[in-house]
Amino acid sequence: MKAVGYKTPLPIAEADSLLDIELAIPTVEGHDLLVEVKAVSVNPVDVKIRARTKPEGSEYKVLGWDAAGIVKAAGVECTLFKPGDEVYYAGSVARPGTNAEFHLVDERIVGKKPGGLSFAHAAALPLTTLTGWELLFDRLSVPESTPDAGNLLIIGGAGGVGSILIQLARKLTGLTIIATASRPETQKWCLDLGAHHVIDHAKPMGEQMKSLGIPQVELIASLNATDKHYPGVVELLAPEGKFGLIDDPETLDAKPLKRKAASLHWEFMFARSLFHTPTMPAQHQILNRVSELIDAGVIRSTFDHEIGSINAANLKKAHALIESGRAQGKVVLAGF
Ligand SMILES: NC(=O)c1ccc[n+]([C@@H]2O[C@H](COP(=O)([O-])OP(=O)(O)OC[C@H]3O[C@@H](n4cnc5c(N)ncnc54)[C@H](OP(=O)(O)O)[C@@H]3O)[C@@H](O)[C@H]2O)c1
Repeated sequence: MKAVGYKTPLPIAEADSLLDIELAIPTVEGHDLLVEVKAVSVNPVDVKIRARTKPEGSEYKVLGWDAAGIVKAAGVECTLFKPGDEVYYAGSVARPGTNAEFHLVDERIVGKKPGGLSFAHAAALPLTTLTGWELLFDRLSVPESTPDAGNLLIIGGAGGVGSILIQLARKLTGLTIIATASRPETQKWCLDLGAHHVIDHAKPMGEQMKSLGIPQVELIASLNATDKHYPGVVELLAPEGKFGLIDDPETLDAKPLKRKAASLHWEFMFARSLFHTPTMPAQHQILNRVSELIDAGVIRSTFDHEIGSINAANLKKAHALIESGRAQGKVVLAGF
């Protein structure tokens, strides 16, 4: 089968940073599905692993976690899906990735693809949707459908995670949403997705929040550049507020939160599959629920644009875009 992989972590501009390769089609066992991959999207995790992680032994490392495709075979323990089913999923960081024509994934973290979406529009969603959902409902414990639930500040609103988190918060909760974005096009994108207000994360946020008449917020979701924004977060967070984050600050001192009795919540969407937690099948349920919300027209795909077919040259373009820190919504590749 066709695949894209690498043997040495290199800057994306290097010829060998990603390579077109041929691999054997894997065989299914246990809870695994063999999926024919139709489309993938690229996330910052692809870029970070490619830049830093040397594959074990002499093997190629295949990246890619988001995928949409068709089930070709199911392991003997599978009960949720069968060959022919259309699925979407984000896979496990501990296993080979989706930048391959055929891919193995545990069915308990797979969802039914939204029927009304193309494979490309569906592939934009799973990883960021699981992140946004788990952050909002499992970590920050926001109740669904409660009016006047307070304010949520989303730092980095126009990226992949922000684009779905804005929608989930707007459509499923009674929160008032303030998203941050630094460019006219990303500011418009956040408003179109449902943010009530937009402020600019390149300027001091406290002043802008005061101008909105919201000097403090009960909930803050920091999706990007937490290192830089943390002092502002401590300032803006209301007493007894909740602070959730998903990115990789160099260090994080929780002590400044003590004075406000504020709580800190990490979200890592791969934790459930990495540790095979008892809650792992919740990811199957989240993806199915979001599939229904998409087909009902409540939520829309965060697809922004398609780069072309799945090969090393196009994946390099997608990695370069993500590395620039200026992605809006999701970038997708489809077909081999
Ligand atoms: N823990 C998890 O489970 C998990 C899951 C997914 C992602 N992540 C991590 O979360 C981070 C965000 O992921 P993503 O997929 O949303 O990334 P992304 O799509 O690449 O984010 C791009 C967005 O970041 C915004 N941005 C750039 N510089 C910023 C700054 N200084 N402050 C605030 N926003 C800034 C940009 O907005 P403007 O263009 O408007 O400036 C752009 O729209 C990454 O570090 C990723 O690895 C973690």
